[in-house]
Amino acid sequence: MDIFTPIDINGTRVKNRVVLPPVVNFGWSDSDGMVSSKHVAHYERIAKGGAGLDIVEATCVNPEGRIFSYQLGIWDDRHIEGLKKIAEGIKRNGATALIQLHHAGLTTRKAVAEKAYGPSADPENERSASLTKEQIGELVGNFVSAANRACKAGFDGVELHGAHGYLLNQFASSAINVRTDEYGGSYENRLRMARQVVQGIKDVTSASFIIGYRMAGCSPTLNDGIEVAKLLESYGVHYLHVSHGGEKGVNPVVPDGFEYNHVVYMGTEVKKHVDIPVMVVNQIKTPERANKLLQEGLADLVAIGRDMLTDPDWVTKAQKGEKINLCIDCQPRCKRYTKPESCPLAEY
Ligand SMILES: Cc1cc2nc3c(=O)[nH]c(=O)nc-3n(C[C@H](O)[C@H](O)[C@H](O)COP(=O)(O)O)c2cc1C
Repeated sequence: MDIFTPIDINGTRVKNRVVLPPVVNFGWSDSDGMVSSKHVAHYERIAKGGAGLDIVEATCVNPEGRIFSYQLGIWDDRHIEGLKKIAEGIKRNGATALIQLHHAGLTTRKAVAEKAYGPSADPENERSASLTKEQIGELVGNFVSAANRACKAGFDGVELHGAHGYLLNQFASSAINVRTDEYGGSYENRLRMARQVVQGIKDVTSASFIIGYRMAGCSPTLNDGIEVAKLLESYGVHYLHVSHGGEKGVNPVVPDGFEYNHVVYMGTEVKKHVDIPVMVVNQIKTPERANKLLQEGLADLVAIGRDMLTDPDWVTKAQKGEKINLCIDCQPRCKRYTKPESCPLAEY
């Protein structure tokens, strides 16, 4: 088995095991969250380059849950037409199309909403407030309606953003969620919202619709991450995409001899405890390193973010054994956080 071996996710055949993880294209949307022609061309280009599974960037399910004002949106039926063009471009090139559903919760910026709601108020953020049960119910409805729109737009499924310290991760993490009602306390309670979202999506979409979950391998510790993963599997999630837990996550120590970073390590540890496909990510970079993870049975899919963006032909070149234009790892942080065009290796 290697990166070119197809894999079935909830009955959908994905042509290879290389995934474009969600990466926001800052500045390409407008303040209404509409898709631009740049998005359509970008995702089509990645699919043309051979990635088997393309996950569209964090797309907000409620305008008041955006992390910034120009984030892509899926909170209104008006978004469907543009999103359809992205899904078509991906699928026309033989790839599987997913879209990441996002709500920033406590990290929602002031420019977007006066209050930042989450499971519990954040003592370090005076704008923050705890959600009422009624509000949680409404947010569950927002995620479900968003998935329904994704389905109408032609996506094969959605990925719920439950990592990086955003809303679903805030609920899952005992370092953030200190509620005393049925949404706090035990793992089951902290994952109640996620379970309701997953069930709600299953109720309104076809049985073949993929529901993936990007989880924090540390929620806040790796042991917690493993418990979260097992529960998500029991709720009927079709794959897990293991990333980090943002500022409140506790990074595990990577054992000597492990050739990848702590984020990949968490994914490989999660894989030991579930039967659904597990996707690993973060600085995997090369086909050799990606293949090794699959060949050693440490993961089922590999996500290649920045290196696929600096070279959209990553998969085709891996097939032909050609040299890939690898990301040069700009410091102090990736220039794409300003705008995609700032990447020194971008084609735009
Ligand atoms: C500019 C930028 C935007 C990102 N946007 C998202 C996002 O929308 N959703 C998400 O879950 N992760 C996001 N990420 C994280 C990536 O999906 C990925 O996990 C990260 O880049 C590490 O993988 P890599 O080393 O292969 O690039 C973003 C990363 C970057 C650099």
